[in-house]
Amino acid sequence: MCPPDYFGVFYEINPWMHRENRPDFELAIEQWHNLVANLRRAGAKVEIIEPVKELPDMVYVANAGLVDGQRLILSRFRHAERQPESIYTSQWFQARGREVAELVGEGDICFEGCGDAFPFRGSLLAGYGFRSDLSSHAVLSRLLGVTVHSVKLVDPRFYHFDISFSPLDNRHAIINPAAWDRASNAIIEQLVPEPLVLELDEALTFCANSVVVGKVVVMPACPPRVGRILERWGYDVCVSPVSEFLKAGGAVRCLTLPLDMTISKFCL
Ligand code: ARG
Repeated sequence: MCPPDYFGVFYEINPWMHRENRPDFELAIEQWHNLVANLRRAGAKVEIIEPVKELPDMVYVANAGLVDGQRLILSRFRHAERQPESIYTSQWFQARGREVAELVGEGDICFEGCGDAFPFRGSLLAGYGFRSDLSSHAVLSRLLGVTVHSVKLVDPRFYHFDISFSPLDNRHAIINPAAWDRASNAIIEQLVPEPLVLELDEALTFCANSVVVGKVVVMPACPPRVGRILERWGYDVCVSPVSEFLKAGGAVRCLTLPLDMTISKFCL
């Protein structure tokens, strides 16, 4: 995770960001520390990357890359405002003895890391359409040696895949089908045995942008119906409010990058 020392809305690169709707800085700091405490209480170990001045979106570390064992597949950001983040991400991983792989392909391929791709049931689910390019999926498949299922994002409010899909375990996921085109909906239907299908108003709370630690689902908000289903499935819900980070279009999952992920079968 990356502390919000330089966080703010200073440019607009998604429909949630409005320069005039400024985050309350003190409250942002408080919410971020509270989130760290909630994740730790649930059993997570949290590591920190130093924030960098003039990179306000660096708090959303989900977009830094995709971890596979000892290797990081580094993101290539769509927007110039976020591109310098990759230098610092790369340094952080290299300093910890991890290998950093870059996406090499024809032309400049955009890929926004764990915000747009994550493993599920032995393959990789990956979104495209707003930030990541479809062409990144073939490169990811080659690098990781796994099947990549491509999901086309069609609603600009859900511009990253991790705002419409929260994997819970091998069978369950919180999903927002309104974010995807029809063919992608069919793919997800095939892949997820027991989805928790959100209504649009529920999805707009960013509750599909949650983090699971063991049996605890750490969520930015939990609509009552969603909470009842999660509890029936044996999960404990922990709501960790992140109102100030929603103003830049991100919530709980965007603020974290899982470091213990293994995607390829034969990873380092
Ligand atoms: N302001 C950031 C951006 O537009 C928010 C990123 C949210 N991250 C995520 N994984 N959904 O890039």
